Amino acid sequence: MKQGPIGLFDSGLGGLTIRREVMQILPAENTIYLADSAQAPYGEKSPEHILELSRRNTRWLLEQGCKLIVVACNTATTNAIASLRKEFPVSFIGIEPAIKPAALQSKRKRVGVLATRGTLSSSLFANTSKLHAAGIEVLEQEGRGLVRLIESGRLEDPETREHLKGLLQPMVEAGIDHLVLGCTHYPLLIPILEEVLPPEVQVVDCGPAVARQTRAVMEGEGLIRSAGEAPVHKVFTTGDPGIANIMLRRMGYPEKARHLEF
Ligand code: DGL
Repeated sequence: MKQGPIGLFDSGLGGLTIRREVMQILPAENTIYLADSAQAPYGEKSPEHILELSRRNTRWLLEQGCKLIVVACNTATTNAIASLRKEFPVSFIGIEPAIKPAALQSKRKRVGVLATRGTLSSSLFANTSKLHAAGIEVLEQEGRGLVRLIESGRLEDPETREHLKGLLQPMVEAGIDHLVLGCTHYPLLIPILEEVLPPEVQVVDCGPAVARQTRAVMEGEGLIRSAGEAPVHKVFTTGDPGIANIMLRRMGYPEKARHLEF
C-alpha cells in the first residue's frame, strides 16, 4: 500500500498546479494524474453530474492502485468530496477556496473570490464563507470562460489577458486587497494576474496548503513511501495529449501525457 501512487484528478490540466506542490514536498512519491479534459469545464455541470464524474475518476485511480486521492479541483471538492469519502475506502484530500487566510489577512475587510459557477453555488462554499468571513465583504466572480481558454492552450493569448482583466475590474474597483483563486486552473494565470492587478492586491492560492495536508494525512496513516527506486509520474488525459504535453513542458516536467478513453 505504502508503495502505491498518490492519485490526483481534475476536470483538466489545472490540477497540475496541485501536483507540482505535492511533488515538491513529497519528492519520493509516485503519482498518477488524471485530467478529464474531455469533460471540462466541470464548473458548468450539475452537482449530480460532477459527482458522477468524480466517482468514475476515483474508481479508475483506485484500479491503478492509488493509496490516497487528491481531488485537485475546487468544483469537484465542493460538490462531491463528502460523498466520495462515504463511498470509497481511501482518504481524500480536497481543495476549497482559501477564504479563511484571506479574511484573516485583509486590512480593508474586502476580499475577492474568483471561482467556477459550480464552486460558487455549492453549499460547502456557502458554509465556508459564512464560517470564516464574518465581518468581511466577500466579492464573488465567476471565472467565465477561463477554464476553456486554458484547456485550449491559449494561456498567452492577448484575448485571455483582456478577458481576465474585464472579469476582475468590478472587484478591483470595489477595493479588494486579496484575491482568492478558487479554481486550480487559475494559478496558471498568476503571471498575467500580476500584470493586471494593482500591486496592493495579494493573490491567495492554497495549493501549497493542500500539499502540506496531503503529507500530514499520509504521515498519520503510515502511507509515506519507503526510499528506494526513483519515483514514477504518470499523466493521463481524456482530452488532447498534445495540449497536456505543452502544459507539462511549460511547467518543466519531462513526462508525456497518455490518452485515456472512458
Ligand atoms: N480546476 C477546476 C476547479 O478547481 C476547474 C473547474 C472546471 O472545470 O470548471 O474548480
